Amino acid sequence: MSARITASVYTSHVPAIGVAMDLGTTDEPYWQPLFSGYEPAREWMRAHTPDVVILVYNDHGNAFSLEMIPTFALGMAPSYEPADEGWGARPVPIVGGHPALSAHLAQSVIPQDFDLTLVNGMKVDHGLTVPLSIMFGQPDSWPCPVVPLAVNVVQYPVPSGRRCLQLGRAIRRAVESFDDDLDVQVWGTGGMSHQLQGPRAGLINQPWDTAFMDRLIADPDGLADVPHIDYLREAGSEGIELVMWLIARGAMADCADLAGATGRADRAGGAAPSVAHRLYHVPASNTAVGQLILEDRS
Ligand code: DHB
Ligand code: FE
Repeated sequence: MSARITASVYTSHVPAIGVAMDLGTTDEPYWQPLFSGYEPAREWMRAHTPDVVILVYNDHGNAFSLEMIPTFALGMAPSYEPADEGWGARPVPIVGGHPALSAHLAQSVIPQDFDLTLVNGMKVDHGLTVPLSIMFGQPDSWPCPVVPLAVNVVQYPVPSGRRCLQLGRAIRRAVESFDDDLDVQVWGTGGMSHQLQGPRAGLINQPWDTAFMDRLIADPDGLADVPHIDYLREAGSEGIELVMWLIARGAMADCADLAGATGRADRAGGAAPSVAHRLYHVPASNTAVGQLILEDRS
């Protein structure tokens, strides 16, 4: 039996959310509504913990820097330590990897014309660890291995929405050709609207965020045509992180296309996913927080 993608998860990665958990302040009035909003997602996750998460995220100048800017970087390592982002590494478990699945993803996705950068060793910052904390809480060890896929959304030019959706499709084909009986989730992280610097610092655009989530669910192909300048104008300079959500969305059954490397037309266009959870909350630090869980029905 081969591996399969059963669900996709989408979540913001605001570092202050990780700090609230690490310092035990989640019951304070500022945080309590957000963390009670997360509870249904955590309950869902307890019942649907996968065998592996392919976690699409962005590094913030911790593993990479302006000296080296890979557009798509796939983690190949057996484990990834939390990075020191300037105030010590987060007190969270080391993230276990899945080298066999990583190797297979590279073997499958690169021949599908996505020239991934392969990373045999790196530390992971809040872009990866905060989504884990949001979904899994504070366990002694993370409940499943993670394959990190780091996307450059920090330094322009960033990959297009179309490119991200297509990469998700390629990842689905890769997972379905991995000869191991694995339940795989793909997570798309970052966002929602936020801008951390300049005259528009603090920007939040709730109507745009809401429309983004609506379209991500119902019209991913149309959403993939939105150019990066629209993210910048409407969702702020860091709102471009949202383009990563399209990678996870492209990996769902209904996005599978006929032009796949497998040429298996019967795989194309599966059932639309069902919405297991949806959350929108303002504010968390300087951002709007969004969360979505889509379950594959096919
Ligand atoms: C904040 C948000 C981010 O996405 C980030 O990477 C750093 C900080 C913030 O809102 O504080
Ligand atoms: Fe960020």
